[in-house]
Amino acid sequence: MELDLAIRGGTVVTASDTFHCDVGIRGERIVVLGENLRAQREIDASGLLVLPGGIDSHVHIAQPSGPGVVMADDFASATASAAAGGNTTVLPFALQQRGTSLRACVEDYRRKADGECYVDTAFHLIVSDPTPEVLGQELPALLKDGYTSFKVFMTYDDLVLKDRELLDVFEVARRERALVMVHAEGYDAIRYMTERLEREGRTAPYYHAVSRPEIVEREATHRAISHAELVDVPIMIVHVSGREAMEQIRWAQSRGLKVYAETCPQYITLTAEDLQGPDMDMSGAKYVCSPPPRDEESQAAIWEGLRTGVFQTFSSDHCPFRYDSPAGKLHPNGKTSFRWVPNGIPGVETRLPILFSEGVSKGRISLNRFVELTATNHAKIYGLYPRKGSIGIGFDADIVLWDPNRREVIRQEILHHGADYTPWEGFEVTGWPVTTLLRGQIVADGGRIVGAKGAGRILARNVSAYAASIGT
Ligand code: URP
Ligand code: ZN
Ligand code: ZN
Ligand code: ZN
Repeated sequence: MELDLAIRGGTVVTASDTFHCDVGIRGERIVVLGENLRAQREIDASGLLVLPGGIDSHVHIAQPSGPGVVMADDFASATASAAAGGNTTVLPFALQQRGTSLRACVEDYRRKADGECYVDTAFHLIVSDPTPEVLGQELPALLKDGYTSFKVFMTYDDLVLKDRELLDVFEVARRERALVMVHAEGYDAIRYMTERLEREGRTAPYYHAVSRPEIVEREATHRAISHAELVDVPIMIVHVSGREAMEQIRWAQSRGLKVYAETCPQYITLTAEDLQGPDMDMSGAKYVCSPPPRDEESQAAIWEGLRTGVFQTFSSDHCPFRYDSPAGKLHPNGKTSFRWVPNGIPGVETRLPILFSEGVSKGRISLNRFVELTATNHAKIYGLYPRKGSIGIGFDADIVLWDPNRREVIRQEILHHGADYTPWEGFEVTGWPVTTLLRGQIVADGGRIVGAKGAGRILARNVSAYAASIGT
């Protein structure tokens, strides 16, 4: 068989197996796994791991974030950063702004992404205004068009849904078989804590973490689970930060409920202390994200959940703002209370090295579990399987060649995102992406972007098997 490309001599890793073989590619797909494959072009992968390209199912790109605030990445920079970090597919959000049509918002994001992406992209929706029109017509139509998942929020002034709205949205998801992602933090408790802290003059970025303690996340997680059980709809609790929420999810799973969970690099490597900065100063804003990072005991709990299967996905929640900018972490109106610091941190490029290093290199998780948590499960849960998410015949040739022994120090100057800092400045890792291939073409090589802008496609997704209710 005539091959366009052979990746020779590497160790192929999937979610289930690790084996020594060559990978043969014709056009955009993997067509053969075998020994001594020859082709027009060959890549020597000896000493390297051959992994499915990372799929990051939780990133925010070019999302409106309040008056005067702009996200640090557009689709070009975010997807270049993703590629350099070993990813071949990202799933950002098309955010419905209140009072606007969901369809119009989606078209707007597609225009912004079209011709700009270095890796494949597929949109989730964010439902912030579940009017009868949105629930009755727009959402079902969009789900049929391949936007098969959406996120809802239990906090944030502009996004929060009331319990009744959550239930109504869950019901549509059940009927249409959409996968619902839930941001579980309780709005009222956070408001109460925020006002109390501000009255006491505690307004430094650090108090962001104090204003939304684990109790608030645990309560909302339990409430989301209860509502989902009532409706009989599967849900994905995103960005779980520590033991309290994790135990609610484990409890739900042990009762046979379809409750899935995601966690992120910040919850295994950062703590609330990072928000203090050197001197309780504004630099703590670099770490402001929601839920906030917790403490070392919470990190241990997250590892327990990663090992035992409470978590299905490990995503970045990439949500980049510039630090040294009034359009970013330093608010336009000079409002300095933590309440006004945009929430979110950059991380699409560092997700894989951090989990590999802290997880695989340090012996906490297996290589196969790494692949499952960073690629395979994202494809399965969000309707991209079996096109994406593994190395096998018929899959897209989305591949990252990974050097398991390479040591790197994460530094802003080696990254490709639009933010002006990384929360992991100086963080040492063992294991690094060397070459990223998107559908058989090299997009990133040795830290350089070599792919073509616009080579990344905007994908429609299938209905997910994970979205089927228990009673169906
Ligand atoms: O702080 C965060 N995580 N910002 C991004 C938006 C979200 O809630 O995921
Ligand atoms: Zn060999
Ligand atoms: Zn969220
Ligand atoms: Zn997010």
